Amino acid sequence: MKDSALVKPPRAAAPPPHELQAFGALADVPIALSAAARREAVDNLNQLLADTIALRDLYRKHHWQASGPTFYSLHLLFDKHYREQDVLADAVAERVMQLGGVSVAMAADVAETTLIPRPPKGRERTGEQLARLLRAHEVVLEEARAMARSADRAGDAGSGDLIVSDIIRTNETQVWFVAAHRTATPAEVE
Ligand SMILES: [Fe+2]
Repeated sequence: MKDSALVKPPRAAAPPPHELQAFGALADVPIALSAAARREAVDNLNQLLADTIALRDLYRKHHWQASGPTFYSLHLLFDKHYREQDVLADAVAERVMQLGGVSVAMAADVAETTLIPRPPKGRERTGEQLARLLRAHEVVLEEARAMARSADRAGDAGSGDLIVSDIIRTNETQVWFVAAHRTATPAEVE
């Protein structure tokens, strides 16, 4: 993904009377980062948050709906990855707040923001579950690398470190575990 392709959510000019801070509005926080740098990071991190929540919930769905000879191991693995993605979502959401933004949170808002394709409501075979998870990880990893470059350019080391040390490293490790369950050998896959 090119940096310019990162999705920018719409911004509200002023919060409605019942809101403390509108989604898209930026609070002033004294962390020695410009408003422009914080706004760019908030927009990027909210996209990353929506995709992380969607991937987390995809693991939960597959944890419940696993089947076949590998049911037990995948049932446990999907639950482990679900919990790890939940930790990541919390870290990204709190980083958005630290930057003065408002984190995306609810399922309906996640659904209209995420770039991860929506799975069917029904139960899928193990191979399709694995392929769907790997595609979702690639969405996250591709945008995360672009966002890390963006954070680096803006001098936002905190966001960059979170994206690289937590998001990218955890997702790459999870891909390793999921991909190793595919029946094809690496040579056959390539
Ligand atoms: Fe469970």
